[in-house]
Amino acid sequence: MNLINTPEELREMGRVALDHVVSYYQSLSDGSRLAFRPVTSARLRDVIEEPLPQQGTSFEEALGTIYSLAADYSRHSAHQRLFGYVCSPGTALNAAGSLVATALNVNVTGFRSAPAATEIEKLVIRWLAEMIGYPGTAAGGILVSGGSMANFAGLAAARSAKAPHDVVREGVAGPRMCAYVSEEGHFSIRKAAGMLGLGTNNVRSVRTNHRQQMDLDDLARLVHEDRVAGHLPFCVVAAAGTVGSGAVDPLSKLAQFARDENLWLHVDGAYGAFAAMAPATRHLFDGLAEADSVALDPHKWLYLPMGTGCILFRDPATARAAFAENADYIRVMGLGQDEAFVFWDYGPELSRPFRAFDIWLLVKTVGVQALAEAIAENIACAKYFEDLVRTSDDFEMLAPVVLSIFCFRYRPPGFKGDLDALNEQVMLAVQRSGASYVSNARIAGEFALRGCVLNYRTTRRDMEILLEDIRRAAASVRP
Ligand SMILES: Cc1ncc(COP(=O)(O)O)c(C=O)c1O
Repeated sequence: MNLINTPEELREMGRVALDHVVSYYQSLSDGSRLAFRPVTSARLRDVIEEPLPQQGTSFEEALGTIYSLAADYSRHSAHQRLFGYVCSPGTALNAAGSLVATALNVNVTGFRSAPAATEIEKLVIRWLAEMIGYPGTAAGGILVSGGSMANFAGLAAARSAKAPHDVVREGVAGPRMCAYVSEEGHFSIRKAAGMLGLGTNNVRSVRTNHRQQMDLDDLARLVHEDRVAGHLPFCVVAAAGTVGSGAVDPLSKLAQFARDENLWLHVDGAYGAFAAMAPATRHLFDGLAEADSVALDPHKWLYLPMGTGCILFRDPATARAAFAENADYIRVMGLGQDEAFVFWDYGPELSRPFRAFDIWLLVKTVGVQALAEAIAENIACAKYFEDLVRTSDDFEMLAPVVLSIFCFRYRPPGFKGDLDALNEQVMLAVQRSGASYVSNARIAGEFALRGCVLNYRTTRRDMEILLEDIRRAAASVRP
């Protein structure tokens, strides 16, 4: 196979690739594919290891090999009963579109390299802001690789906005800068603090109430104690959907608190922010519009394939203060102000893929109404599961369903043993079965089986099957 192909070869390659895509989606819809198939690293290495290929092989053979390996030995985010973690299913329309996006290979550094992609990204950012009720006119933003990077960018802007000196040029110095996040907050906040030189120990863990929401009294206490100790409280991170149970922190109250205390308010909506589109949960996001920055993840609850997160800034100048850099080899010359726009002034990356392509294609093709309906149905499925658990005599809920995450455990009548150990065994058994897949969370110190409905394929019947699968797994591990 050559690097340059004739149109005929290309058509044939496209047909071969599309056949795999079609058979993959068929295997999901006809139920023949498991959510997960256990394998050991040694077994996989036995199959895939080979010397560095000196000569090429046929495209058909190479693609067939890598497709079979990845299709047989992956956890399938698109499976309708893949409830573990926060896994987006991707879409067939984006799979087809990716062929075109990859062919164009646009490098979205700024207008000069990508005029159309730059304007499309700016438009898509406004669409995303509108979907979650964030002020569309003033808000700037940028697409990044995911929620962790979005949280990093939000904290970077917060750090330079609130530091008593030019922290970007002079480095971290002076009083300790402290950030506040609930004990249910995502670990990417601590990672960001580490990468930004703020120190993970200076991310204070705020207690939560019985609904896993940040306790405002505890927050006020910690901020006060830090001020008394001579530290500099600078940022509070609110969760708009915690990864554990889907709790949404009291955003309006936190916005008021942040204003009173001169703190930056960053909202981590990587999992939950798009639930602002669903009528049943919209009210939970009141106050989000007042945040200084919001992280959201189209590659979670907008169903997009892996690789697209987003950070929105109330004032784009704060992002510039954190990220703007220049060098002669990249200086933009001879262009008007709009055409001189560059994304590298607003985020950590220089070369960037055309992430807005996927969002634009999805929203244009499906329409925002259908997306909002799919999100509402995911929430309804999680609530339905909660009803099933509440009316069973061998399961119990450990946290209320707020968005589309459900935390529960197996508790057979009369069982006197270690429920944490039993449920861990049940989780591993159901994962190994491959029929359904749940992960885990800790709720008020207890081990919980945890699921997250994030797939437009999932139906209420799938929720019933999940319970049956867990019962079967439990029967196989019960002492
Ligand atoms: C609440 C929350 N924040 C941040 C992240 C990190 O997002 P990503 O995996 O896209 O980096 C996640 C991932 O699940 C999350 O649930």
